[in-house]
Amino acid sequence: MDYSSSRPRPENGTIHPAPGRAERRRKAGRGRRKGRSRPSEWCHSMAACSFRRSIASQLSKVLDLPPENLIKAISAVPVSKKRHVADFQLSIASIAEDGSSNCLTENLQLQAQKLAERTVLQQVLKDGSEYGVKSELFSTVPRQKAVIEFSSPNIAKKFHIGHLRSTIIGNFIANLKVALGHEVTRINYLGDWGMQFGLLGVGFQLFGNREKLKSSPLQHLFEVYVEINKAAEDEDTKKLAKDFFRRMEEHDEQTLSLWKQFRDFSIEEYIRIYERLGVHFDEYSGESFYQEKSQEVLKMLEDKGLLQKTTKGTGIVDLSEKKDLSSFSTVMRSDGTSLYITRDLAAAIDRMNKYSWDTMIYVTDKSQSNHFQHLFQILKLMGYDWAERCQHVSFGLVQGMKTRRGEVIFLEDVLNEVRSRMLQNMASAKTTKEIEDPVETAEKVGLAALIIQDFRGLLSSDYQFSWDRALQSRGDTGVFLQYTHARLHSLEQMHGNEQLTDVNVACLQEPDAISVLQHLLRYDEVLYRSSQDLQPKHIVSYLLTLSHLAAVAHKTLPVKGSAPQLAQARLCLFQAARSVLANGMKLLGITPVTQM
Ligand code: ARG
Repeated sequence: MDYSSSRPRPENGTIHPAPGRAERRRKAGRGRRKGRSRPSEWCHSMAACSFRRSIASQLSKVLDLPPENLIKAISAVPVSKKRHVADFQLSIASIAEDGSSNCLTENLQLQAQKLAERTVLQQVLKDGSEYGVKSELFSTVPRQKAVIEFSSPNIAKKFHIGHLRSTIIGNFIANLKVALGHEVTRINYLGDWGMQFGLLGVGFQLFGNREKLKSSPLQHLFEVYVEINKAAEDEDTKKLAKDFFRRMEEHDEQTLSLWKQFRDFSIEEYIRIYERLGVHFDEYSGESFYQEKSQEVLKMLEDKGLLQKTTKGTGIVDLSEKKDLSSFSTVMRSDGTSLYITRDLAAAIDRMNKYSWDTMIYVTDKSQSNHFQHLFQILKLMGYDWAERCQHVSFGLVQGMKTRRGEVIFLEDVLNEVRSRMLQNMASAKTTKEIEDPVETAEKVGLAALIIQDFRGLLSSDYQFSWDRALQSRGDTGVFLQYTHARLHSLEQMHGNEQLTDVNVACLQEPDAISVLQHLLRYDEVLYRSSQDLQPKHIVSYLLTLSHLAAVAHKTLPVKGSAPQLAQARLCLFQAARSVLANGMKLLGITPVTQM
């Protein structure tokens, strides 16, 4: 049983449904007035009522309260996909507020409140970057080995906004898992094999330039690819490209050495650009690694009787329940070569052998959902039980991201664009002081803007991209988070950044101070939610609220001019708020700035 005081409080004796249920009702069009429902609806089943009664009657003996008063304070924990057990929470505040509270509950509530509010500051400052992740909420979560595959662009093709989303989402999941003590391997699985390299090889022989390949490989290879694609209409070029790729598959040294240069130079440039994003990988893998291992996979499928040949000569695996081929996956071309999914099968098995992971996560847009479903199904058919521990984290499409150069082709263009736009905004803002490194600051603030815009909603939702909305200085943006962080930081600087010890937090009595304290208390719950459903939005809305509360408190609770003890306590409050804000931002992949 959870003990929390976060349950909606009863009003006029009416009981609100658990938020999850109300939400679903509204969506299903069955909602009545917003947030209201009759008690009979809440006790939607006799089973739930009697559970509460039984818990209440046991608690009533300990608390010396009539069970009726307790029943209302017990609520079911909102349903979530991940949570398979039913559970209840008890709101201490609502027991005490009931009017019939006795000494014990009054005490309990007071204790809960004081204990929490008084100790939270010490806890935040003591735990530093570990505040929240050390919570008892995580004490029963086993430490795991996780493989997270994300970003995974294709060499010589566009780096589209989907790759950017994959990059920041994967990075967030990896950060969160690491913070919670899991062992994480970050893999970038490049599109570095396939017919496009046949074309690219031929194209490079025709239009390539070694100097350009070295200085800006991504741009040059893309140009060559576009150029050769135009030429590929004619049959001769097509044949040359086919030949080139065939030689690659046959391990011809010369063709492979050119291919390897394409790959190596591209990775070098990628590493440099990912660094601007604050992203790194433990492994640059790619489809090319699994060309041979795919043949082993095909052999295994054959041995297990799972591989069927079609009349066209391709190889397929029947995925239907009734084995009537109503659903199947093609795993082999008619010439015996592998496909995207075959290489993914080989990669999954290889990673299991290499890392013996407990969980493996793939981050791509939702257009690949079918692909991953098939992948996991085939692994299962092959007898790999760990297929159940593979997860596809999918996300929606983003419309309308354009840079001054037009449609997005390179990641670097996006980063340059957001930086220059931010720089412009900073220059025109009157409040901007002399900043040591404006370009660097603009980059970090701009990135925060991109990340928050992307993480605000459910990952699976599509959204319309807008530079202006993302870069607003007011409102729920990354710019606002950075601004709040910088302001809190300079407040600390102004007051000597002294180590605060023996602070009398009891003098923080104002509602605006209590709100911040109360909000700080919730950080672990929010981390827990995000760790369960891997959605960053819980942390995002938490940090936005924290920033709003801190901004209000900053206005109403001056440090300067207050009595020393009060000034100290307030400083301590702001320091704690900044610390949690910074921790949360870092998890999201944002580097907090100290001036802007
Ligand atoms: N390179 C692929 C693309 O751009 C994404 C790879 C996703 N990962 C995988 N294991 N299939 O569409």
